[in-house]
Amino acid sequence: MAQADIALIGLAVMGQNLILNMNDHGFVVCAFNRTVSKVDEFLANEAKGTKVIGAHSLEEMVSKLKKPRRVMMLVKAGQAVDDFIQSLVPLMSPGDIIIDGGNSEYRDTIRRCKELRPKGILFVGSGVSGGEDGARYGPSLMPGGDAEAWPYIKDIFQGIAAKVGDEPCCDWVGEEGSGHFVKMVHNGIEYGDMQLICEAYHLMKDILQMDHDEMAKTFEEWNKTELDSFLIEITADILKHRDADGTHLLPKIQDTAGQKGTGKWTAITALDFGVPVTLIGEAVFARCLSSLKDERKVASKQLQGPNFTPFQGDKKAFLEDIRKALYASKIISYTQGFNLFRQAAQEFGWNLNYGGIAMMWRGGCIIRSVFLGKIKEAFDKKPDLQNLLLNDFFKKEMHNSQESWRRVVSTGVQYGIPMPCFTTALSFYDGYRHEMLPANLIQAQRDYFGAHTYELLSNPGHFIHTNWTGHGGNVSSSSYNV
Ligand SMILES: *[C@@H]1O[C@H](CO)[C@@H](O)[C@H](O)[C@H]1NC(C)=O
Ligand SMILES: *[C@@H]1O[C@H](CO)[C@@H](O)[C@H](O)[C@H]1NC(C)=O
Ligand SMILES: *[C@@H]1O[C@H](CO)[C@@H](O)[C@H](O)[C@H]1NC(C)=O
Ligand SMILES: *[C@@H]1O[C@H](CO)[C@@H](O)[C@H](O)[C@H]1NC(C)=O
Repeated sequence: MAQADIALIGLAVMGQNLILNMNDHGFVVCAFNRTVSKVDEFLANEAKGTKVIGAHSLEEMVSKLKKPRRVMMLVKAGQAVDDFIQSLVPLMSPGDIIIDGGNSEYRDTIRRCKELRPKGILFVGSGVSGGEDGARYGPSLMPGGDAEAWPYIKDIFQGIAAKVGDEPCCDWVGEEGSGHFVKMVHNGIEYGDMQLICEAYHLMKDILQMDHDEMAKTFEEWNKTELDSFLIEITADILKHRDADGTHLLPKIQDTAGQKGTGKWTAITALDFGVPVTLIGEAVFARCLSSLKDERKVASKQLQGPNFTPFQGDKKAFLEDIRKALYASKIISYTQGFNLFRQAAQEFGWNLNYGGIAMMWRGGCIIRSVFLGKIKEAFDKKPDLQNLLLNDFFKKEMHNSQESWRRVVSTGVQYGIPMPCFTTALSFYDGYRHEMLPANLIQAQRDYFGAHTYELLSNPGHFIHTNWTGHGGNVSSSSYNV
């Protein structure tokens, strides 16, 4: 009997929690797991007393679905996804929908969309963020793929997603692998946001010599400003936290950061596309440097830093400078992330819902923050906005922050504090606002050693080569046209 609104394959914690969340919102879900005993266990335990039903085979599962059939997979990325698709396709009809809610690489999602389209099966790749709790009570959902599927999954997706006010943190992202692409960049931005907070912490601790309770209070204060966000909030909690012995836990934690690779993938994609997503890149490298603990231990005894006198300035004013530096750097990071979206849209011919992306991240996920509402407003105002920094609101914020930001960076440098993300963000800002950069010299050098030619400011589009060593003069060249 066709009674289920949607089927969900994969009963690990994320899958189970999404099912229970859907059930809470009035949808009938059919649960399936390759190890079918898991289905019975789930029905007898976590799903006891709900409307969730189960299936012991894919055939049975499909037969229990209303049409168009909706099947969502939350299985391990890679081969398992392809295997399930292959088994499902013969059981489904044109117009039916397969959704991959796992952590697939966006290029795999592009491929699967292309493979399934001729068969009439609508494929959706959806980023799901917010961890186990998010899945249970309101994740951020980033679906993209075959747009024809959206009207049929919209109620379920927006129903179970996190809400900010009445607005769901879920909207249609765009074509093909764009949902998984957006999830990848979300994770990259998460790396950046975390590193920025770490740099602020380092400055407070080593320049201002603040103790952990003082720092916790500062982050609590910051949580009431433009920086109001999940990561600032948990940082306050972490700084306060005391061990069983009554002392603070944080300074006892090993200072080597791990990573699962999603930040790295954002940086690699940025390099591939030639988009300067410098802040996420630095955040990834900062984790790499942190993991060289043994080398750092040796080097710390041999390599000198600067001589400095203890901070004698206005501590409160400098704290406010740090807050503004963090805010300005964060604006740069999101600017760079959205630039990457713009380039991906061009590469793949996607029409991306930029304002919607900001809204999807506004709640439910790790980078959720009040600030994202401003990005949404910027794109609502001008959907084809080329760069966030050119939006009036963000322009004003940069102008208001820049003096603080420069003071923090220069003071930090004088004290020898590493600030890879604060500094790269400021360099990006200064680079982007310069009409003239020193790349004229790079062009001259390239022409000098490799006859790569250059253009004159006064005559763009016309490529010339100069005989730099001799007296042969210029050679006008159109054959070097690159
Ligand atoms: C089945 O459930 C287990 C957890 O009980 C999960 O680890 C696994 O990924 C699921 N696999 C599939 C293919 O459903
Ligand atoms: C941070 O602000 C939010 C409201 O925007 C609030 O719910 C939360 O409790 C605050 N957290 C801390 C640690 O102050
Ligand atoms: C550059 O000029 C020198 C001196 O006139 C000449 O010997 C040399 O061949 C020229 N090189 C090229 C690549 O034209
Ligand atoms: C080389 O090019 C420059 C710039 O166009 C021009 O001013 C100069 O006269 C040229 N020199 C020769 C020897 O052609």
